[in-house]
This record gives sequence, C-alpha cells and structure tokens, in this order.
Amino acid sequence: MRLSRGHRNNGQNGGVSSDALSEEFEVRTLSHDDLDLTTDLAHLINRAYRAAQSEIFSAPSPRISETDCANLILAHELVIVRCGESLVGAVRVATMDDRTRFFGLLAVAPEWSSKGVGRMLLDTIERDAARAGVRTMALDLLMPDPATAHQSRLRDWYESRGYVATSSRSFAEVEPEAARELRYPTQLIRYLKNIAHELD
Ligand SMILES: CC(C)(COP(=O)(O)OP(=O)(O)OC[C@H]1O[C@@H](n2cnc3c(N)ncnc32)[C@H](O)[C@@H]1OP(=O)(O)O)[C@@H](O)C(=O)NCCC(=O)NCCS
Repeated sequence: MRLSRGHRNNGQNGGVSSDALSEEFEVRTLSHDDLDLTTDLAHLINRAYRAAQSEIFSAPSPRISETDCANLILAHELVIVRCGESLVGAVRVATMDDRTRFFGLLAVAPEWSSKGVGRMLLDTIERDAARAGVRTMALDLLMPDPATAHQSRLRDWYESRGYVATSSRSFAEVEPEAARELRYPTQLIRYLKNIAHELD
C-alpha cells in the first residue's frame, strides 16, 4: 500500500504517518498479512548490522532470527520502508507505557546507507508517536569502551536529535551468552527524548 498525503495509522504500536515522506517511499507497520516478508526482512536487518556488529563482537551472531522477526511482525512492532519493490529499511517500535515508546533494530540496507532513509524513519516514528500523545521516545545504544567508529557516530546523531543518556547497564548482565564474544567492555545505554513539543 503506497501512502498518500495525510495521516495514516495502521498499527497499535508503530503506526506511521506519511507527511515526512518523499512520494517515492512507502513506510508502514507490518501485520500478519506480511509474514511472507519475514525472510527478506531478517536478511535486511542482519546485513545492515553486520559491519557495526563486527566492530563490537569477535564472532557476531545474526542480529535477529527469522522466528523473532515473525513474532515482531505479528506484534505489529515492525515498521518498514520500501522504495518500489525494494525493502530499504526497518525499525522496531514498541509501547513501553501510555506515554513512552521504545525503538530498536533501526536498519537500512547497506546499498541505501547515508541517503537519509534512517533519518526519514526516525522522523516518521517520532512524529507519529507525538501525534498519539506519546511523551518520550526511548532506545538502547551499545557502547563499547573504547567507543567504535560506528557507535560514536550513532551516539552523536542521537544526541544531536535531542536524545539524552539516562542510565546504563553492562551488556554482559543483559545478554551473558552474546557478551562472551565482546571485543571490549560494553555498556547498554538507555537514551530518552522528550517529544512532547515535536509537533510545534
Ligand atoms: C544507523 C543507520 C540506520 C542510519 O541509516 P542511514 O539511512 O544510513 O542514515 P541517514 O543517511 O539517514 O543519516 C542519519 C545518520 O545516521 C548515521 N549514519 C549514516 N550512515 C552511517 C554509517 N555508515 N555508519 C554509522 N552511522 C551512520 C549518521 O549519524 C547520520 O547522521 P549525519 O548524516 O548527521 O552524520 C544505518 O547506518 C544502519 O543500518 N546501521 C546499522 C545498524 C545500526 O547501527 N542501527 C542503530 C542501532 S541503535
């Protein structure tokens, strides 16, 4: 379904609107009708994360399994961007409480990198959340010590968008098995952004 101008919200958690979009892109929340996209979507996310994960882990595992991807689709938590028939990006959006949405798994196909797709996705989910009365967006950022190039650039980007680090946990405590492959001590940093004024 190609989005027309105007507001459209087709998912309880990550419904998105089209105002921020260029006409050539389709952004939408997936549902059970989209399970046939599971394999392609898991592949896209794992390809997008591969380089960043290799800086952090000595033997990186795929970022997401097809089973987990299918479960997120069924939960209406995956938002995708398409350009024509090409799947170019995705993000997970989940409700934490009435006033807070969490996003993660932000991924853009490497061949589409640095063309503004990630920014468009984030603009869209923030604006849609603000319209739904959400006050706070949250994300967790992996931060090795020393910081890797990719994670430093991400941190600068999120901070320039108004995200503020509020707490951190040791990644080893959160995911002990995956932590065995860490190259460096790594924290999972919770960033929050107040989006109450995003529509002003
Ligand atoms: C992060 C990511 C989604 C950005 O998508 P994108 O479409 O390439 O980004 P955009 O062109 O919209 O640019 C937005 C910002 O993304 C960041 N970015 C873009 N390309 C990047 C790259 N190759 N490496 C690291 N960060 C990058 C930059 O901070 C950029 O802001 P800037 O232009 O002000 O420096 C994409 O690089 C990706 O899929 N990375 C791997 C997965 C990942 O790390 N996800 C985020 C986990 S919290």
